[in-house]
Amino acid sequence: MNNTNINEKYKLMNMLTSFWVPQIIYTAVKFSILDIIQEHKSIGLKKLLSISGIKYKIGYRLIRALIFLDIVTYDNNEIDSSFRKLKLTTMGLLLTAKEIESLRDYVIMVGEEFYTSWSKLYDIINNKENFSDKHFYECRNRRDNILLNNAISSLSQVFFTKLVNFLKLNKADKVLDLGGGDGSFAIKILEYVNCKIDVLDRKQLLHSFKKLNNKSNKIRFIGGDFFVKIPKGYDIILLIRVLHNWSDKNVLKILLNISKQMEKETRLYIVDSIIDNDNDFRSLMDINMLVLTGGSIRTIREYTALIRKSNLKFISFKNLDRVYSIIELARNN
Ligand SMILES: C[S@@+](CC[C@H](N)C(=O)[O-])C[C@H]1O[C@@H](n2cnc3c(N)ncnc32)[C@H](O)[C@@H]1O
Repeated sequence: MNNTNINEKYKLMNMLTSFWVPQIIYTAVKFSILDIIQEHKSIGLKKLLSISGIKYKIGYRLIRALIFLDIVTYDNNEIDSSFRKLKLTTMGLLLTAKEIESLRDYVIMVGEEFYTSWSKLYDIINNKENFSDKHFYECRNRRDNILLNNAISSLSQVFFTKLVNFLKLNKADKVLDLGGGDGSFAIKILEYVNCKIDVLDRKQLLHSFKKLNNKSNKIRFIGGDFFVKIPKGYDIILLIRVLHNWSDKNVLKILLNISKQMEKETRLYIVDSIIDNDNDFRSLMDINMLVLTGGSIRTIREYTALIRKSNLKFISFKNLDRVYSIIELARNN
């Protein structure tokens, strides 16, 4: 075997074993190992494992793996490992519950929901797994909703800031954020412009929304269903990271429901990932949508076809960052 092949073989081995890593991190998060270390700043292995309720022999193996992954590190250089203390690295800190925009809930989703969904990929492609794209949201309990909200918002602050700057809203604008989740983006808007924002999402989210909403009477939560009824009278309608959750048939239903309620001047902004070409990392995000929700990450051609059928017309298109793009639309007639 020549050198190139050996390198490719290692590359392949890395890919094949990459699923080990999230399971190791997930287990550490579930046992609160990282939160316990953070609380003590620096802690001996025996004490850490006894607080987290893990037997020493097996716990030591988990911690060793976390050290290799650069999540945890030694705080001192004692030769006898039983005297060594452990502390968190920067990556370890980002996984603790107290961290702002912590990735903890994202890890839990990856370790549970993503993991089981991805194991069905073969059956889905082989047509053996039959599931509706409504299943993902209809079956969520309160814990699942909280995990999803936190997972989504854990990486959103920079993205939200870019988006609000792009939208250039005016004080007089009436904005509808469809599928606006817990209202995090609405709150970001208010940091820049004091306009009126309605957030429409499933009524089960009212609980997580109320907390944020109490701070301002400019934001209102509407418990509803964008497949059933969308209210009228808005200058701006936002659909942020919503359409990738749905099949073409359901995207069409949502867009038709929206276009029926738009005035001539109303602008609809679809903010979503759009695949640029066949060699695009978003093709992996597309498979994630396929297994998780039954939705897809679309190309601009695919969006164009759906937009035409929905009585909407293109006004502008822009890439916001490496992951997300914005399509600005108006009613066609
Ligand atoms: C991927 S999240 C995006 C949340 C938010 N727009 C953001 O970008 O952070 C999709 C949102 O659509 C909402 N949703 C799902 N089905 C819905 C429905 N039938 N009517 C209204 N909202 C719905 C979900 O509850 C969730 O908050």
